[in-house]
Amino acid sequence: MNGLQGRKVVLGVTGGVAAYKAAELVRLLGKAGADVHVVLTEGGARFVTAVTFQALSGNTVWSDLWDARMPNNMAHIDLGREADAILVAPATADFIARVVHGLADDLLTTLCLARDVPLILAPAMNRQMWESPPTQRNIAQLRVDGVAVFGPAAGDQACGEVGMGRMLEPEEIVEQLEGFFVPKRLAGRKVVMTAGPTFEPIDPVRGITNISSGKMGYALARACAQAGADVVLVSGPVALPVPVGVKRIAAASALAMRTAVLESVHDADVFIGVAAVADYRPLQTAEHKIKKSGEALTITLTQNPDILAEVAALPAAPFCVGFAAESRDLDAYAESKRQKKRLPLLVGNLVSDGMGGDDNTVILYDDAGRHPLPRASKAAVARGIVDHLAGMLPART
Ligand code: C5P
Repeated sequence: MNGLQGRKVVLGVTGGVAAYKAAELVRLLGKAGADVHVVLTEGGARFVTAVTFQALSGNTVWSDLWDARMPNNMAHIDLGREADAILVAPATADFIARVVHGLADDLLTTLCLARDVPLILAPAMNRQMWESPPTQRNIAQLRVDGVAVFGPAAGDQACGEVGMGRMLEPEEIVEQLEGFFVPKRLAGRKVVMTAGPTFEPIDPVRGITNISSGKMGYALARACAQAGADVVLVSGPVALPVPVGVKRIAAASALAMRTAVLESVHDADVFIGVAAVADYRPLQTAEHKIKKSGEALTITLTQNPDILAEVAALPAAPFCVGFAAESRDLDAYAESKRQKKRLPLLVGNLVSDGMGGDDNTVILYDDAGRHPLPRASKAAVARGIVDHLAGMLPART
């Protein structure tokens, strides 16, 4: 994740027990490239000290409206003015109420009132506080006022109850913040994708699979969702978290993947085949575990259907994007695959450059030629692919 490179974020931390997660949030925001400036309320400081946030952010932590360290005594104006966003996590019920009513009796509420940058709140509170009519009225008013609200989620609460009101996990907040800044170039588009390896069963416990990690496909699903698309991700067996806003359908074998794709793709604008679909599967799957016999064992394989070629040949085919991982002669193999499957766009990479790792080097192939993207994290490569793809889509009618 480096989708916050160059962004300056003011992080407000108010007095809820979820403040302990704000320390991890600062670390993750920094890892994603953000320059984080923490504003800690009096209540927040009761849970976590300023020293923790200062050490993690590498920046001065602000708490006091009357802080003499600001040369012009205008901390409330200067901090907000230079930021790309003010994010408050956790935002307590009391803090939310004070923002809704335009109170400005401490540094953080004053910053929120005297801002011309987006304000995002990640609520955290007990279930009953969240469900109470005043809080619900306040949340509705925030939305009218153009304030973004991330979460909350349902689950175990510090008070021992279970229900709505938990702050989103720091990873989810970072992911949503990255998405917040992404231009919505795929808004209103439905994207169906495949990702990961397939598993072709030999018997109930064995099968043929490959080394695809699914990381590129999941990064691309996340980038599409962050660009505003409605994303269906048909996924082979991988243990990756489902990106926020993505609908994941599990499909282990090529045949299961094909069925799931054909059921979802009829109203799609885009289909992207990222999965490393097995070319062959065992002709028969043994009903019971195959036992050693002392003899050589022959397994007959039969060819799998090519899902991507089949979707590309549909009468009202969506815009189809293929992937090609090659061990040599990338240009020649990639372009011939693109022609053979009749794809407007194909993403090629050398197996040694990308498979399994966190970074990738890809070249995009389309009718206009080859377009190499710089080597980068799979998240950044995915954003590059989405940009290119969005520019190729026919205008919506
Ligand atoms: O022909 P090859 O397998 O190299 O093509 C790779 C591209 O085709 C990828 O986009 C992959 O997801 C897709 N594919 C598919 N169904 C198959 C084989 C490949 O959708 N059976």
